Amino acid sequence: MSTVQRPAADAAVLCVALNPAIDLTIEVAGLRPGEVNRARRAQQDAGGKGINVASCLADYGAGVAVTGQLGRDNPALFAALFAAKGIADRCLYIDGSTRVNAKIVDPAQGQTTDINLPGPAQTRAEIDEQIARLERLIDELAPALRWAVLSGSLPPGWPDDVYATLIRRVHANGGRVVLDTSGRALTAALAAAPEIVKPNRDELAECLGRPLASAADATAAARELLAAHAGMRLVAVSMGREGAVFVTPDAALLAHPLDVEPISSVGAGDAMVAGITAAQLDGLPVDACARLATAFAAAKLTRLGPHLPAPATVRSLAEKVGLTRQG
Ligand SMILES: Nc1ncnc2c1ncn2[C@@H]1O[C@H](COP(=O)(O)OP(=O)(O)OP(=O)(O)O)[C@@H](O)[C@H]1O
Ligand SMILES: [Mg+2]
Repeated sequence: MSTVQRPAADAAVLCVALNPAIDLTIEVAGLRPGEVNRARRAQQDAGGKGINVASCLADYGAGVAVTGQLGRDNPALFAALFAAKGIADRCLYIDGSTRVNAKIVDPAQGQTTDINLPGPAQTRAEIDEQIARLERLIDELAPALRWAVLSGSLPPGWPDDVYATLIRRVHANGGRVVLDTSGRALTAALAAAPEIVKPNRDELAECLGRPLASAADATAAARELLAAHAGMRLVAVSMGREGAVFVTPDAALLAHPLDVEPISSVGAGDAMVAGITAAQLDGLPVDACARLATAFAAAKLTRLGPHLPAPATVRSLAEKVGLTRQG
């Protein structure tokens, strides 16, 4: 594998992965808790939502830099992914290891057990220093930077409004933001009016404090966000196998999912975020954006990791995506 690093200075997109993880998948047939279990196989992958987005965007040919926190003790999987895909590594390396998320897959019982470790324990002073570094990085990349993608949960102890802080910094530098997070981090970030938000249905329901039972409910909820935040121009609400609604101040479309045989549902939403961002880089209108984003998700579903087929294949999938205008 090549170890040539792409320079970050020409990256049009910065993917921010504050809380990445190594995904450890362990296959155990007939898991018995409390006993010694023999695993059939195990696999480790560089993971985390921001990393997945960067990986898909790089596969599509976008110039991508990635930042976030990685542990100095186990960077090899990330370094290999960044080198293989030409992703510029602007991560902040900290003492210790990047956390591991274990997934115990039991094909005999058709069950998957997830054990997610917390991120690093940091003092408030250390966290503030990291945030200041991220802000300086945004300033440094600003000449080429068009979009920042902020994805995923926050490491322990980080302030809920860190995404709002970063969004304001990107805006101050003339860039735009795609946001994909949940819970208090989502609510706090909305105050800084990111241009694009991609919650899934449950995340938006939690944010608004009411269930979203249908595409019509999701569309109404997206319109509420747009009305409440001047500067926001697209809310995409993904609904798993029911597709996703793409709502702008002028249009609302339901993008039907493609009929694919999913190999792994992990990261379909992250691929969708990458597709939305790719569409913005290409200046596509909302209907083409909805098609491309749905094609990214479908293409990713047929692969194990956060990888896409050739861009021409993704574009031809996009042509097959059906759209229904929402009232
Ligand atoms: N079973 C499926 N078949 C076809 N398409 C699917 C399926 N599941 C998801 N998709 C596609 O992927 C898109 C995003 O999926 P989903 O709503 O599950 O994202 P998410 O919950 O944000 O996922 P994650 O955050 O785990 O990546 C959907 O809008 C749809 O287009
Ligand atoms: Mg998601």
